[in-house]
Amino acid sequence: MLANKKIVLGVTGGIAAYKAIALTSKLSQAGAVVQVILTEGAQQFVTPLSFQAISRQPVYLDTFDELDPKKIQHIDLADWADLFIIAPATANIIGKYANGIADDMLSTTLLATKAPVYIAPAMNVDMYQHPAVQHNLDILAKRGVQFVDPNEGYLACGYTGKGRLAEPEEIVAYLEKKLTQKKLLAGKKLLVTAGPTQEQVDPVRYLTNYSSGKMGFAIAEVAANMGADVTLIAGPVHLPTPNGVNRVDIISTEEMYQTVLEQYPDQDIVIKSAAVSDYRPVTQYKEKLKKQAERMTLELERNHDILKTLGEQKERQYLVGFAAETNDVKHYGQEKLLKKNLDAIVINDVSKEGIGFGSDNNEVLILTKDGTEIKVDQTSKVAIANHLLNHIADQIGVEGE
Ligand code: CTP
Repeated sequence: MLANKKIVLGVTGGIAAYKAIALTSKLSQAGAVVQVILTEGAQQFVTPLSFQAISRQPVYLDTFDELDPKKIQHIDLADWADLFIIAPATANIIGKYANGIADDMLSTTLLATKAPVYIAPAMNVDMYQHPAVQHNLDILAKRGVQFVDPNEGYLACGYTGKGRLAEPEEIVAYLEKKLTQKKLLAGKKLLVTAGPTQEQVDPVRYLTNYSSGKMGFAIAEVAANMGADVTLIAGPVHLPTPNGVNRVDIISTEEMYQTVLEQYPDQDIVIKSAAVSDYRPVTQYKEKLKKQAERMTLELERNHDILKTLGEQKERQYLVGFAAETNDVKHYGQEKLLKKNLDAIVINDVSKEGIGFGSDNNEVLILTKDGTEIKVDQTSKVAIANHLLNHIADQIGVEGE
């Protein structure tokens, strides 16, 4: 997968910079063309000559060097790249990139590139966990930057913990996987629902739930990156539409029901991550309700169970449900898998703090019809979407392009 890929490797000033030499070698051996940018900090640890000798390419150190008058070097390199990898990435470059600071060759080139960017952080465990660094990582993740997470272990500073640069072999394997993954769902039509629904009571009130839509939007984004033709049916949420995704906005469960059923026959994969309202008010008042007695009763009636209907009408579609539970999560999840005739169910425990509704992270258990159980520990919703979609691609036996 790496043969003839044009890679810009950014090396920043951490002790793990020595591993970047081995990384350059492994990427070159895999057939990639690697152009290296060393920051000033990196040059304290490793020399340009090592990278030049291994990559057989010029090594870039300063934005203002401009060796070739016909080119603006940082723009040229930004446009040339098929992908960027920063390894090791210090807290400093992560902070600069997250905040749009461009004050050296690497940071200016990063802001100028449209190529996918991968970051392999390496730093002291406390620095890595610092809220400022985590916040910056979050900002970058939301912009589509992907991370080769650091390993746990002995750190050069004497601490033990998470912060060790992933090994060069792991970084190469990760990039190869990403490049293959991209098209794993090529030619497949995928429909995903996201967000809450709103059930109108009167012109100024409605019933809803805490769903933010982030999980469904992450699935849409990752599926589109994997080459699927994605339709996203979204409840009322304030999230930008991921690149290349067809979005249909709906408000109520019944609208979602109609829209999903219309699209269903054409789809290969349907993922119902929306938090659908089970009930709607029997009467939707045309005028604003006025207060009267001390107590009032709002009568509700059942909405269609969209997922159950899809399970009943299923032909060739791979159907995935979500289950938000607060107790006996696996038991209730399994029950829904069977009852709604699903191929897989993603169960999350919404009683746990820091994950689930509204959060950027989640922790889930994926169960499939054939009895496979995949536990995904707390991670970003994008990472969960990746796990889920890879598993689906595996199950439906697509080989990708
Ligand atoms: N779902 C649906 N239509 C509904 C209710 C739920 O399509 N009217 C879907 C959700 O999108 C989700 C799955 O069913 O994929 C499970 O939703 P959940 O609210 O956890 O379960 P319910 O089936 O509503 O069961 P209960 O409320 O009894 O837990």
